[in-house]
Amino acid sequence: MSETNRAFRLRKRPDGELAEGDLELVEEQTPELVDGQALVRTQLLSLDPTNRIWMSDIRGYMPAVPIDAVMRGIGVGEVIESRRDDMPVGATVSGFVGWQELVLADDNLLEAPLAVLPEPLPAPLPAFLGALGHTGITAYIGIDNAELKAGETIVISGACGAVGSIAGQLAKERGARVVGVAGGPDKCRHAVAKLGYDVCVDHKAEDWREQLDTATPDGIDVDFENVGGPIMDHVLGRLNIGARVSLCGMIAEYNTYNPGGEHSGGLTNIGQLIMQRATIQGFLVLDYGDRFEEAIGHLAGMLGAGKLHYDETIVNGGLDAAPEALAQLFTGANMGKLLVRVSD
Ligand SMILES: NC(=O)c1ccc[n+]([C@@H]2O[C@H](COP(=O)([O-])OP(=O)(O)OC[C@H]3O[C@@H](n4cnc5c(N)ncnc54)[C@H](OP(=O)(O)O)[C@@H]3O)[C@@H](O)[C@H]2O)c1
Repeated sequence: MSETNRAFRLRKRPDGELAEGDLELVEEQTPELVDGQALVRTQLLSLDPTNRIWMSDIRGYMPAVPIDAVMRGIGVGEVIESRRDDMPVGATVSGFVGWQELVLADDNLLEAPLAVLPEPLPAPLPAFLGALGHTGITAYIGIDNAELKAGETIVISGACGAVGSIAGQLAKERGARVVGVAGGPDKCRHAVAKLGYDVCVDHKAEDWREQLDTATPDGIDVDFENVGGPIMDHVLGRLNIGARVSLCGMIAEYNTYNPGGEHSGGLTNIGQLIMQRATIQGFLVLDYGDRFEEAIGHLAGMLGAGKLHYDETIVNGGLDAAPEALAQLFTGANMGKLLVRVSD
């Protein structure tokens, strides 16, 4: 049966922050299903800093979302109609659902096939987009790539975010001294009290550089970098010999990925990689599909043992709320994984 879908289509590439008119909310009819297709109702949409990257026509790791296409996005949903055996009605699926209420699950049309989640779910549904989903896996891979050892000092920016909050706990599990960088005293208190950071530096405080110096008296062995910009630059200036930078993200500059423009960059301490014989490794979680099971198994084990705390900021208001909610990632209004509840 044909249904009315509501979807955000990208009409214009943002210049700076996402602005009104960049996306348009449209109503469209879904096609009648044919064999090999299912219809999925989106329940939760994951808002990720990379959403802003995907809107930009830069040299990215995936093609930019084409103008007029449905905005790319990761989410979970329920199969409501089906003409495929592997996706029965009632099944819960996850993957690239797009910023839309209804998804035509056709492997030939979607960027990647949706995955069917286990039944019954071993954890609450939102966790599959966070601690047990792509951001949790990112934290696991980023810590593992850095070969973090007991007794080393690691700095994690975006310390209370979806990736950072899990990375902090994985670092602690390895016996490291774990220093977080987060925005504001509330987040910093939370980082120490709930996420197990040894200390947290408030990057919104005027003296954040001094705070970071005091927090890392023996220098920095590993930088789990989520933010870039001046924070990363200051961390680079404190690297120890043989340090490793696990370069996960640079959210501080995503809003400068503008049409025809150059992003700001501006790392003045990059030369310290030479002086300290340090290494920097950019990585993308998408390249580690063969380790997802291992990562999820580890994180689920910690969760089951009561050794993993995770936070979610779930924005209500349906799909309509997504563009405005995305801004939370750039102002720091979110605590933990940012999600939009599209339907129940
Ligand atoms: N490589 C990969 O495969 C991969 C996968 C997922 C995510 N990532 C990257 O990982 C990073 C974190 O992603 P996430 O999903 O976990 O987001 P998140 O940390 O939950 O949210 C973003 C956080 O970044 C902080 N922030 C934003 N602008 C900042 C600025 N100018 N200076 C300092 N802090 C700023 C804010 O926290 P405060 O309140 O603390 O400022 C905000 O809450 C992003 O850079 C993302 O692109 C990479």
